Formats: sequence, structure tokens, C-alpha cells
Amino acid sequence: MIVILLGPPGVGKGTQRSMLEEEGPWRKVVTGDLLREAARAGSELGRKAKAYMDAGDLVPDDLIIDLVREKLEAMPDGADVVFDGFPRTEPQARALDALLEELGTAPDRVVLFTAPDDVLVKRVAGRRTCPECGAIYNVHFDPPGTGGICDECGAELFRREDDRPESVKRRLEVYREETEPVVEYYVRSDVPVSRIDADREPGEVQASLRREIGR
Ligand code: AP5
Repeated sequence: MIVILLGPPGVGKGTQRSMLEEEGPWRKVVTGDLLREAARAGSELGRKAKAYMDAGDLVPDDLIIDLVREKLEAMPDGADVVFDGFPRTEPQARALDALLEELGTAPDRVVLFTAPDDVLVKRVAGRRTCPECGAIYNVHFDPPGTGGICDECGAELFRREDDRPESVKRRLEVYREETEPVVEYYVRSDVPVSRIDADREPGEVQASLRREIGR
């Protein structure tokens, strides 16, 4: 099964994807994490991507599409795959269709998470992330047991550079301009699109997600 999670920054795509992964052996394509890893490793891609990310802008399509192609080609045939943070532009959505077609598959469902902007801004401002295992916390809603330390692996949590208020404002604008048309792209296609109110407890949102994808 191929599932695409869409929604604005801070809506909970990463949180819901992690909860879904507890259900079974999902493979994941998380372009934000792949880019942050590349930036930490100091690779050429990472250096190019970092300036865009810190400003809250999208990384150019060609860089992202190559990254996703590499990731998909390394997966076993027939794997259950969840996309988080990709596609984010119409050219990316078309490229994904072509890549999946080459692999003899297609998206089964698109899930759009929604929440009001003031909720998104508060969530992003409070987010803390583990650089080692990727666990996501929130100082307001889901704090770690010991301040600043990951409950799962003991690493020191960090605040993402693009979670500063000026970047968040830009990310929301970019979402409206570039990524909302992706929702329309899928609505026009044959892929079923589910809309889920993500301004609820994470467990309730997860129950809706699993209902929509039949898991
Ligand atoms: P990316 O990392 O994909 O960021 P994003 O889409 O902006 O999404 P976020 O990670 O901010 O939020 P989320 O929806 O995953 O929320 P989370 O679960 O963490 O991309 C970053 C950048 O990389 C982009 O700006 C761009 O530059 C670049 N990039 C990435 N992909 C790209 C692409 N395809 N093309 C071009 N550029 C690309 O939750 C947020 C917080 O809220 C957490 O603290 C969490 O604990 C809390 N929370 C979650 N759910 C709930 C809930 N139900 N109730 C209360 N709190 C909650």
C-alpha cells in the first residue's frame, strides 16, 4: 500500500507517521529528515538544501526527486510505503506518479491533515526533535520525561532552525502557494483523498488515519 500524508507545517504528519509505523513494517520516505541528515553530514546536497530550509523555502524539485528516486529504488517490491513531506509541488507529484509507474505501482490514498494556523504556530514553536532516533516532542503538549533529553535513546533534543517564527510564517505561505495545489492535483486524479481534522488528540487522529487507510 502506498500512502501520501499531506498537510501544513506542524499539523502532525511526522507524529502520525511514527504512530503508524508502530502498526507494521512500513517503509518511509520523509524528505525533511533526509535533507536534515544530509545537512548534518555536510554533503553537497545538504549544503545546497540548508539555506532553503532555514529560510522556510522549498528545496528545488530536481534535488528532491533524485533523492526520492534513490530511496524508492532501494525498497523491496510490494513494500508498504508512507510518504511524509513529499510531494510538495505539482511537478513533484507528477514525478512521483512516473517513478511509481516505473516500479509497477501507484498511490493508494492521499491523506490531508488540517488544523487552524494558530494551532500550527504553537505546535511548531514548542517542538523538540531527537537528532538520533527522530522522536518528536513538544514542550507544551508532549514534553520528554527529563528536560531536553530523548526518552527513547538518551540523545540531546534540538530545536529545528526552521522552527523560528520568521521561517514558520514563510513555510505557511509556501504551503498555501506550492503544496495546496498538490491536493487539487490528487482530487483531479483517481487517487482517493481523505481529509482528517488534526486539531484533536494524537490518538484520535491516528484512529481516523487507520480507518481511512483500512489498517
Ligand atoms: P519537513 O520536515 O517536511 O517539515 P514540514 O512539512 O513543515 O512539517 P513539520 O515537520 O514542520 O511538521 P509535521 O506535520 O511533521 O508535524 P510534527 O509531527 O513534527 O520540511 C522541512 C523543510 O525541508 C521544508 O520547509 C523544505 O525546505 C524542505 N523540504 C522537505 N521536503 C521537501 C520537498 N518535498 N520539496 C522541497 N523541499 C522540501 O508535529 C509538530 C509538533 O506538534 C510536535 O512538537 C508534536 O509533538 C506536536 N503535535 C503533533 N500532533 C499533535 C496533536 N495532535 N496535538 C498536540 N500536539 C501535536
